[in-house]
Amino acid sequence: MKSAVSRRRIAVTSLRLRYAAAIMLWVAAGIGGIWFSATRVFTRHIEAQYHDELYGHVRELAGLVNVSPDGHLTLTRPLSDPRYLEPMSGFYWQVSVWHGDVLRSASMRRGGLDEDVAHSPEVFHAVDNGPTGAAISYGFTRPAPDGRIIHYVISTDKRFLDAAIAGFTRELTLWLSGLAIALMGTGWAAIVFSLKPLDRLARAIADLRGGRREPLPGTFPREISPLVDDLNAFIVENQAIIARARVQAGNLAHSLRTPLAVITDEAEHLAASPAGDEAGRNLLAQTDIMVQQIEFHLARARSAAMAKTSGQTSQLPGIFEPLINAMSKLHPEVDFVLRAGEGVTATVEVDPIDLSEVLSILLDNAGKWADSSVVIDLAADGQDCVITITDDGPGMSAEQIAGAFGIGVRYDLSRPGSGLGLAIAREIAEAYGFDLTLAPAPTRGLAARLAVRMA
Ligand SMILES: Nc1ncnc2c1ncn2[C@@H]1O[C@H](COP(=O)(O)OP(=O)(O)OP(=O)(O)O)[C@@H](O)[C@H]1O
Ligand SMILES: [Mg+2]
Repeated sequence: MKSAVSRRRIAVTSLRLRYAAAIMLWVAAGIGGIWFSATRVFTRHIEAQYHDELYGHVRELAGLVNVSPDGHLTLTRPLSDPRYLEPMSGFYWQVSVWHGDVLRSASMRRGGLDEDVAHSPEVFHAVDNGPTGAAISYGFTRPAPDGRIIHYVISTDKRFLDAAIAGFTRELTLWLSGLAIALMGTGWAAIVFSLKPLDRLARAIADLRGGRREPLPGTFPREISPLVDDLNAFIVENQAIIARARVQAGNLAHSLRTPLAVITDEAEHLAASPAGDEAGRNLLAQTDIMVQQIEFHLARARSAAMAKTSGQTSQLPGIFEPLINAMSKLHPEVDFVLRAGEGVTATVEVDPIDLSEVLSILLDNAGKWADSSVVIDLAADGQDCVITITDDGPGMSAEQIAGAFGIGVRYDLSRPGSGLGLAIAREIAEAYGFDLTLAPAPTRGLAARLAVRMA
């Protein structure tokens, strides 16, 4: 039931299938019409020809029969068609005198023809039973010199006519079926060819959605180019709006920083005074939250992924060099080691600024909590390049890992931080559709795993 419904949906929603159904109907109607009319015309023609021939034979027969004055019949010579001589060939003739002589073709070894077919001087024909099955008989009468009636009858088995028609119909059906298949094949090719620009458009839009390219490239057929132009205009406008919104969000966050710093300062003073310490601490807690939110949204606004307009790619492992340099300065006691798998080099579909941001968040965390070393592994996994950053620090429990991506979440307050790093990293990764997970390292510490799509 369900599959029937979904099949119906495919038929309704796929342009290709709609065209294919229309072409099938069109070809079926056309070929069916040709088949019907061709068999009708052929049957009519061959029947007419057949009847003409028999009519000629019966006239010839009458010319060849000699009637003596006393009504005796003799044949001056055989009929020109030799099939009247072959035994039971299906071609027969008979001449009979009322209550007198009967002459029969040599082919008619047994049986006889119905002389009633010949019942008037006019040539008549009828379908009746001959010596070897259904037959078409022609006949007419002439008076003998003694006044008696002579019946001339020619009869041919109907199966010859039927076989000719059936043979023609069979061959025609075969040819027309071949033609139908060829027409449907070329029709399908025409559909695929004419819908190609739509496929290209769909791919371009998918690229656009994935942030890989914009605006829609290339020239499109006249029928859809207005749509593409409108879409391109819309994209450009949209980009401008997003860019403006990002700048405004950044400006807003920046403009709030200074007053927030002043309020935080005042709150600290208040918290230090014995009269207002309670209110001061409350204020400080709230300003902390505000700072976190502002930093988080600023980082979000900065990310090209959020705007989906980048189309940039990054190189692995090249991107790590400046990051490791910076991290080694930030955490001098920790050893950062890059193990680029089996020489994994890859171009990945992510803006280098965004990838650097995510990696520096993960490397900074690993550096902050590592005892002595941080190992970076690269491995290709199907369409993805998997980056794993493993430290040898205390790691986190499963519950801590589950909550670590929240804004402002910090478990170890002995290290500096605002609890925003992982929240921002997850936001950026999700915007690209990448997988970012944390897990306990095999021996000790934490392993952060980021899977990025290769270009
Ligand atoms: N490699 C790690 N080992 C142990 N704990 C970690 C590790 N990475 C993160 N954590 C825990 O998860 C918390 C959240 O990390 P997150 O990066 O979001 O914030 P942060 O590092 O404290 O501050 P920020 O990154 O904003 O400077 C950390 O405070 C820490 O408790
Ligand atoms: Mg951090």
